[in-house]
Amino acid sequence: MTTNTETESVVRMKGVSKEFPGVLAVDSVDLDILPGEVHVVAGENGAGKSTLMKLLSQVERPSSGGIEVSGEDVEFRGPRHAQSLGVAMVHQEFALAPHLSVAENLFMGQEPGRFGFVNRRAEKEDAERLLRRVGLGVDSTRLISSLTVAEQQRIEIAKALAIDAKVVIMDEPTATLAEKEIEELFGIIRDLTSHGRAVLYISHRLDEIFRISDRVTVMRDGKVVDTLPTPELDEDKLVRLMVGREVENLYPKPEAEIGDVLLTVRGIGRGRKLVDCSFEVRAGEILGFAGLVGAGRTELARAVFGADRKDSGEVELEGKKLRIKKPQDAIDAGIGYLTEDRKGAGLALQLGVDQNITLASLPASFGFINLKEERRIAQRRREQLNIRTPSIRRKVQVLSGGNQQKVVVAKWLETKARVLLFDEPARGIDVGAKAEMFGLIGELAKEGRGIVLISSYLPELINMCDRILVMNEGRVAGVIGRGEFSEERIIALATGMEEAE
Ligand SMILES: Nc1ncnc2c1ncn2[C@@H]1O[C@H](COP(=O)(O)OP(=O)(O)OP(=O)(O)O)[C@@H](O)[C@H]1O
Ligand SMILES: [Mg+2]
Repeated sequence: MTTNTETESVVRMKGVSKEFPGVLAVDSVDLDILPGEVHVVAGENGAGKSTLMKLLSQVERPSSGGIEVSGEDVEFRGPRHAQSLGVAMVHQEFALAPHLSVAENLFMGQEPGRFGFVNRRAEKEDAERLLRRVGLGVDSTRLISSLTVAEQQRIEIAKALAIDAKVVIMDEPTATLAEKEIEELFGIIRDLTSHGRAVLYISHRLDEIFRISDRVTVMRDGKVVDTLPTPELDEDKLVRLMVGREVENLYPKPEAEIGDVLLTVRGIGRGRKLVDCSFEVRAGEILGFAGLVGAGRTELARAVFGADRKDSGEVELEGKKLRIKKPQDAIDAGIGYLTEDRKGAGLALQLGVDQNITLASLPASFGFINLKEERRIAQRRREQLNIRTPSIRRKVQVLSGGNQQKVVVAKWLETKARVLLFDEPARGIDVGAKAEMFGLIGELAKEGRGIVLISSYLPELINMCDRILVMNEGRVAGVIGRGEFSEERIIALATGMEEAE
């Protein structure tokens, strides 16, 4: 940017750095954010994107350098202070209070009314006005915990409106959304920018970077590589800036021989969430699950895996009927599930990378875990998956989002599972790692394992799968073979516009 924009910038970062033990997460970053622009920050996992946003939103204190908001130097006093300056953050993992109501969450941390009383009626009216602006028709007295992930995200954006934010930071906001919800989010973003607000947007999805951004800043190893207007970029150039090399094939699907049926699922039902769901997966096959968020894809995987109770239905592995009451039964039988929720069931955040990787697989002899073996295994997977951490003993909690995801994958690769259910495995991982991840999934299929791949991103399914099962409102709406894949067909089935055969 030329210097004449100085005065207009809403945010100016001047040589900002952040050091954690063993890592310089953000390294002397200069960055200007202009009012009314959508500014994407892109880069590989661990490049420092989230940390940079945490410095701006005062979740983390810079080690050196300065930040200006609206032309004023900002003092570090914590997230409340950043909010009062007009910096709002929509978190990668949401920071809402689940047991409080929508209205309470919206106005949390704000000054109460005169005489210290909160005017409940005014609060309710304000809340409902904000909710309408983000296209949400929910009652403001509802508890956050009763809302879907997409709805919770809207609440976070409404919170930004509530403080009349000048800059709204969104860290991978579409990671948990389906296509239709992404469209709606983009509509909200356009509304924000047309009112002169800046949106700082972190994303790994190239398609949406090109659709939504005005400018893109690429980070690598904590540094800004370049900031460019979007029209001066194309996919190849962007990828090259991010990874520092060419990535040839995003979806490497090796030729795998498709063998006998491994997994048979018959008539699974669970309340109204799952109705009479049946499918098969063969050895060497990758079966995709497509559908809108809430269609029941994760619920179906969880029911098969024993993470949720099922009212009816059977699961067979290699012709043998299984009694799965809890996840451990499924694991023992040879079924693995890579959850979409890495903060929850996927990882023991307080334990090291090495322990997490071997958690599900390493046999303890006489109750002792072989530490040397654990490290050797973890080290090998770290190299294979390019897990970025200064040490394999580091707590998983401090790894970047994408690197946490790789640890989950490494953990399941260590097991002898015959069937692996991958729930949004590429969510939050960078382009280079995505290609590696899909290559790996392809290899697992080639080894003769059966794979279920749940994804909301159709190009992933279309490129990687042998067949795609489409769900709609808890039912299997149809199964499409590789020769007949098309986005239109999948969307028609997913939205109920085309009836199941
Ligand atoms: N609290 C912390 N303590 C120690 N190291 C940290 C902490 N937070 C982040 N890091 C390290 O800082 C680096 C940058 O992490 P950051 O989360 O900013 O990456 P990112 O670009 O957002 O990656 P991703 O795309 O995977 O979300 C990583 O090496 C990470 O492990
Ligand atoms: Mg991040």
